[in-house]
Amino acid sequence: MTQQVYIRGFGFNVPDKIVTNAELEGSVDTSDEWITSRTGIKQRHISEGEVTSDLGAKAARQALADAGIDAADVTHIICATCSPDSYCPNTATQIQHKLGISGCMAFDLNAACSGYLYSLQTARGFISADPDSVVLIVASEVLSVRTNWQDRTTCVLFGDGSGAAVVSADKGENGVEILDALMESDGQYGDLLTILGGGAEHPYKLGDTVDEAFFIQMNGREVYKVAVRSMTQVCQRLMEKSGLTVDDIDVLIPHQANLRIIEAVGKKLGIPEERVFTNVQKYGNTSAASVGIALAEGRTQGDLEPGTLAMVTTFGSGFTWGALLLQF
Ligand code: UT7
Repeated sequence: MTQQVYIRGFGFNVPDKIVTNAELEGSVDTSDEWITSRTGIKQRHISEGEVTSDLGAKAARQALADAGIDAADVTHIICATCSPDSYCPNTATQIQHKLGISGCMAFDLNAACSGYLYSLQTARGFISADPDSVVLIVASEVLSVRTNWQDRTTCVLFGDGSGAAVVSADKGENGVEILDALMESDGQYGDLLTILGGGAEHPYKLGDTVDEAFFIQMNGREVYKVAVRSMTQVCQRLMEKSGLTVDDIDVLIPHQANLRIIEAVGKKLGIPEERVFTNVQKYGNTSAASVGIALAEGRTQGDLEPGTLAMVTTFGSGFTWGALLLQF
């Protein structure tokens, strides 16, 4: 029998500062009407000096409290991010330090917007190897520092935030079982969505000024197509693998990148709108944190009652994508 694994607690955090579409109209050639009709986004939260580990530690404390777990009992910390505090040290160790603990394994995982799901799948592996493991997953992003605020094709899309989960073999009081998962990737799409500057492929030397490659660059149209196709197909494959149909799925929680992508995936899967969770309107695309925020917020606001079967799906730069089934 495979090891049962539960998410025992959820947490999320977003910075206080809200930037509305109307405010962006003042800095780039865009409009609330364009952003709303193309993406569904109305506002995003933007950090004013808080770094990835700050937002992450806040979400982590909430998840630990929700799980009823002391930080000292955590055995692994995985920080899912593509906007780390720094290249080195990793952000997971800085979250660990901010939580006032030391000793446990702590590392970053970069699967872009699929980071939260990839981390859950990784946690399942750790817990299968040692059922006493208590894995803290912190998906945290401050992508605003890697956003070119003069590029209207990207700056309207992203927001900062963090989502956390405590994962263990012990269900605790309100644990949510991870029933099954499928994670996939295909590097042939690497060029479609990038942050190149500073990496080995696009190095800077002392005295260089950063160029556009320092920031997010994206071929939006192509990303859109692959996103819809990959999320739809991985959900279909996961349902088939688990012997489920769309009628069994109470709620679909897709990566909150764009309302049109979310609607297209729901439609292709045959899941009606009222069973598809959205909060992209309030937060924009928070990358790895996106579905972490959705799960934590969804549970707090009563959208994910006990008994609910949820299918979570994500896609991100790489491309990476995946789907996961959760029994609330
Ligand atoms: O986690 C993954 C993150 N990435 C995504 O989720 C992105 C997926 N892609 C998309 O969501 C869509 O492709 C976008 C929302 C990015 C763009 O929507 P679109 O319908 O594909 O528009 P487009 O890129 O084809 O651009 C249409 C027009 C262009 O003008 P012209 O060439 O037709 O004159 C753009 O320059 O819209 C223009 N445009 C804008 N206009 C006002 C692009 N961005 C903006 C903007 N405001 N912010």
